Amino acid sequence: MRSVSIIGAGLTEFGEHWERSFRELIAEAGIKAIQDSGIEGKDIQAAYGGCMASGRFIGQEHIGALIADQLGLNPIPSTRLEAACASGGVALRNAYLAIASGAHDVVAVGGIEKMTEISTEEAAIALGGAGDQETELFHGASFPALYALMARRHMHEFKTTEEQLASVSVKNHKNAVNNPYAQFRKEISLEQVMNSGYVASPLKLLDCSPITDGAAAIILCESEKARQFCENPVEIIASAQASDSLALSGRAVLTELKATLAAAKGAYMQAGITADMIDFAEVHDCFTIAEILAIEDLGFVHKGSGGKATEDGETAIDGRIPINTSGGLKAKGHPVGATGIAQSIEAYYQLRGRAKERQLKEAEIGLTHNVGGSGATAVVHIFRKLEGKR
Ligand code: COA
Repeated sequence: MRSVSIIGAGLTEFGEHWERSFRELIAEAGIKAIQDSGIEGKDIQAAYGGCMASGRFIGQEHIGALIADQLGLNPIPSTRLEAACASGGVALRNAYLAIASGAHDVVAVGGIEKMTEISTEEAAIALGGAGDQETELFHGASFPALYALMARRHMHEFKTTEEQLASVSVKNHKNAVNNPYAQFRKEISLEQVMNSGYVASPLKLLDCSPITDGAAAIILCESEKARQFCENPVEIIASAQASDSLALSGRAVLTELKATLAAAKGAYMQAGITADMIDFAEVHDCFTIAEILAIEDLGFVHKGSGGKATEDGETAIDGRIPINTSGGLKAKGHPVGATGIAQSIEAYYQLRGRAKERQLKEAEIGLTHNVGGSGATAVVHIFRKLEGKR
């Protein structure tokens, strides 16, 4: 396997883009990434795009070809990947493998979703397709309801409180204030979260990630060649993916995601490191309980203690293990197909010292964690400065 590095990144603002088209968002993110990397379009040998449900959201399919066409990359091969909210992470992994295997040297990989052109109810049904249609969505169990079941079980087993769930949201909104691309650049208080209306008890409006439009893109390059384009590339030192049952009813335990455990194990093994060597992480906080499960499953805190660790500030930007310095899905926004790529861009910015007001002092090794559905797909990537310490 050859070493693979990120040499450039670009993203649109996340939010409601009613005045802009799907293809304009692709073009903005893609062109920014190409300009940032120092390459020219003709250097790109293949493209990969993560997109969950463009057919449901805007009536457009065949996104791989659309990406190549929109960015003027024809006739290179361009492929769409779908793994629900992990579509971006899976696209990144496939682009990584294309370079690691020797098939290509320079690859563009992006993610896109435009979700606000349909009603919230229609979006909930489109998103619900990522769960089990027969045993969950057909019976009215949308994603907030599925994660509410996991939250209830965590509260029952570990005495996690609604305030601890809310503290995830308070932290992530605080981080998003310093992210110019974030959908909600405003702090919220614990009281505001606690007083927001229930969507699916115990999860309230402010425990949920929003419905978002946005696109994100990065350029990957074989690491030796990367230095020709970029002084300080960021190396991908691990890429791992795992699967689990689509339906919650197929799982023996609701307080952990087996796919996250397996992907994390694979990633730590590939990188030759342990969880305590990770300096920061972007994790999949589609609901506040999801961040608590993630920090436990990734090994940053003991099982059952994620709520307390968050409440105690361990995951704050100045805490022991900063989580979601970008604002996370909760406050940066969650354009589902773009999320996995946007997470890797935050890792890239932190490792290159480009995160401005939210820049971490200690940022040598970072991790991203992207989940599809209620945990049926999980993708974990680990990044470090190409010349950083190991
Ligand atoms: N966090 C913070 N604020 C939010 C928000 C969120 N998740 N969702 C909406 N808001 C704000 C809006 O900006 C709006 O504020 P304003 O009145 O000041 O303009 C207000 O709350 C009402 O927004 P609205 O669009 O009417 O909300 P909604 O009721 O249609 O949708 C949810 C709210 C929580 C149901 C929706 O965001 C949702 O379904 N989220 C989950 C998405 C999901 O499942 N993703 C996949 C995860 S696996």
